[in-house]
Amino acid sequence: MSDRYLNLVNSQLGSAVASRVGLPQPAVLRRYSAGDPLLPGPAVLGSTAGAVPTALTTILTKAGVEVLDSLPDGQKIAAAIVDARSVASPGDLGALREFLQPAVKALQASGRVLVLGRAADGGSIAVDAARQALDGIVRSLAKELRRGATANLLWVEDEASLESALRFFLSGKSAYVDGQPVRLDAGQAPNPSDWDHPLAGKTALVTGAARGIGAAIAGVLARDGAQVICADLTQAGEALAKVANRVGGTTLHLDVASTEAPKRLLDHLAAHTDGLDILIHNAGITRDKLMANMKPEQWDSVIAVNLESQLRINDALLGSDQLNEQARVVCLSSTTGLSGNRGQTNYGATKAGVIGLVRASAAAFAGHGASTINAIAPGFIDTEMTAKMPLATREVARRLSSLQQAGLPVDVAEGVAWLSSPGAGGVNGQVLRVCGQNLVGA
Ligand SMILES: NC(=O)c1ccc[n+]([C@@H]2O[C@H](COP(=O)([O-])OP(=O)(O)OC[C@H]3O[C@@H](n4cnc5c(N)ncnc54)[C@H](O)[C@@H]3O)[C@@H](O)[C@H]2O)c1
Repeated sequence: MSDRYLNLVNSQLGSAVASRVGLPQPAVLRRYSAGDPLLPGPAVLGSTAGAVPTALTTILTKAGVEVLDSLPDGQKIAAAIVDARSVASPGDLGALREFLQPAVKALQASGRVLVLGRAADGGSIAVDAARQALDGIVRSLAKELRRGATANLLWVEDEASLESALRFFLSGKSAYVDGQPVRLDAGQAPNPSDWDHPLAGKTALVTGAARGIGAAIAGVLARDGAQVICADLTQAGEALAKVANRVGGTTLHLDVASTEAPKRLLDHLAAHTDGLDILIHNAGITRDKLMANMKPEQWDSVIAVNLESQLRINDALLGSDQLNEQARVVCLSSTTGLSGNRGQTNYGATKAGVIGLVRASAAAFAGHGASTINAIAPGFIDTEMTAKMPLATREVARRLSSLQQAGLPVDVAEGVAWLSSPGAGGVNGQVLRVCGQNLVGA
């Protein structure tokens, strides 16, 4: 569903009117398309320790980024990247301000601010306070940036996934990820031989692939080189076949909530694949009602589809020989699972439950040949699910993020594809929000 308001304020007349009366001015976001350079302009690099580590410069230069160590006179920059891993006291944060203040003024549309920090580790109180302060700086700065620019934070505990994370966060693939921290730990995170096809040779399965976010995920995983099994309900068969044809994949009719689903899935994998590398738990339903009016079947069906199915399928896979080593599992949560939402106690339960599931399963997946499991929490995404909302509610919801617009299914799919990639092996048990920094709740 197209965002007419966004199109209007990006016309000459609309832009003039919106700025005169102080209306939101969502920008057309820089989204990835094949062949794009990682950044459409230079990146300025800084460090709170003085010298920028050569490893960082090397990664960026290798990725084709023009790296500058100071701001160019009168020229715009596409990204400002600051290594703040040396921050050890509140006084050290001043160096960050000194770097960021002129840099954000020079940032072009859809620019990127990336802060690299170390996570609080329960050592010195002053050090932890200063490290955690980075989170507040990035989240607040993200709310100040305009014209589609974003700010995000990488807690770099280990550099195994640094290149993969930098490539995701600087590119148009992270267009709708804003104000978010991601922690990079040690892990098996091999860089692909071809960064345009990081999933080459991988077999992926996406549940709920017949439409919306699931269809977009199938498309992006296939674009990145995976062979995709598109799974959905039998009644979605026609739409499912279209998606599978489009992405060069295959279909599997599977009701994830049925008791036989785990066995049917394993049988299918055994018969048609050399094991599964990527599993995306995307199938989900809403049955919204205030708690006071909630019927048992509305409660039970949402719990069964959105949460219990994931638990049972994961258990079956881990107990089988059908899940390959260095597998990637990505579970669809929602910002509702973080902040709650009126009329969604059942849905909120499942989406928060998915976060619990992911955190509690991380060790088991790491123990399965260095596999990972993570969650993506989309905010307001334009799909058939959200098209059911009343017009006024939808229009308001679209503007309630730092990027002042809804996300597109492809934005969620890009996040899923990154977490599914070999290079993201250092990210495990985490939740990545793809929500344009939703201003409601969390
Ligand atoms: N759209 C949003 O704004 C948004 C926000 C946060 C989270 N999410 C989550 O993203 C996921 C996809 O959302 P969407 O907006 O694309 O939804 P959608 O309703 O457009 O599509 C969901 C798909 O899942 C399938 N499905 C439903 N029950 C199933 C079952 N039992 N077995 C197999 N497939 C089943 C449906 O047939 C459909 O194809 C869901 O988990 C949803 O909760 C969506």
